[in-house]
Amino acid sequence: MSSPAGTTGDEPRAAVFSGKRTVRAPLLLLPEELIPDTRLRMDGLVFLSLLPEAAIPVAFLDPQYRGVLEKLKYGNEGELRGKQRAALAQMSEETIVDFIRGIDRALLPSGHLFLWIDKFHLCQDFHGWFDGTELDVVDLVTWDKGTFGMGYRTRRRAEYCVVLQKKPRRAKGVWKIHNITDIVLEKVDRKTHPHAKPVGLQSALMSAVSNEGDFVIDPAAGSFTVLEAARQCGRTFLGCDIEG
Ligand SMILES: C[S@@+](CC[C@H](N)C(=O)[O-])C[C@H]1O[C@@H](n2cnc3c(N)ncnc32)[C@H](O)[C@@H]1O
Repeated sequence: MSSPAGTTGDEPRAAVFSGKRTVRAPLLLLPEELIPDTRLRMDGLVFLSLLPEAAIPVAFLDPQYRGVLEKLKYGNEGELRGKQRAALAQMSEETIVDFIRGIDRALLPSGHLFLWIDKFHLCQDFHGWFDGTELDVVDLVTWDKGTFGMGYRTRRRAEYCVVLQKKPRRAKGVWKIHNITDIVLEKVDRKTHPHAKPVGLQSALMSAVSNEGDFVIDPAAGSFTVLEAARQCGRTFLGCDIEG
């Protein structure tokens, strides 16, 4: 059977997605210490506990994985290479789970969590992190950093963003931008923070699952690339880092 004009025939069926977003976030009354569009210095778990329940459409989490430092011992970790990285507050798996639970509580029904993850955790079974939450994995985006990293076998050049959605899980009426590919090349200047993430990609992802003016949270914001991304697309940022 031939495809309709202007299509390749490979597009997802029109019935399962749309360019319209029907989800609306409620108006938020925030405690006075949570100031939008600023770089708050605060423990992320305290920050999450201050948020109203089931009110936020989108969250980003880029944990400071202790497990990565333990696995990537190339002999000079924390000495020459990786000195900046080793100096950051590390998160145990239990802490990461607490962050995920706090985000799950704050997200709207059908809200999204974009969880940055490295290859080691991705290849292990990380699904237990979501036990007892309403979050499910719905997609994965590979960020091609365009740089030549370390590795005992292949050399690292990518990081991954797991897309999780709170129940009820659906794309139609929720995810409204359909030209984001699942591999994205974006170069980032890492001089400000060793873990800086791509602003353009984060901006596209938050635009897909929120409306203009909606809140986007990041409880471990590092160099606050999510704040920059929110500014780019007219969303309201709310987030912190323990280091400020
Ligand atoms: C991987 S970095 C985030 C990088 C960020 N996505 C960016 O683009 O710059 C993780 C951050 O978590 C912070 N962190 C560690 N423990 C924290 C805690 N309990 N509360 C808030 N931030 C924390 C670290 O200081 C570090 O800056």
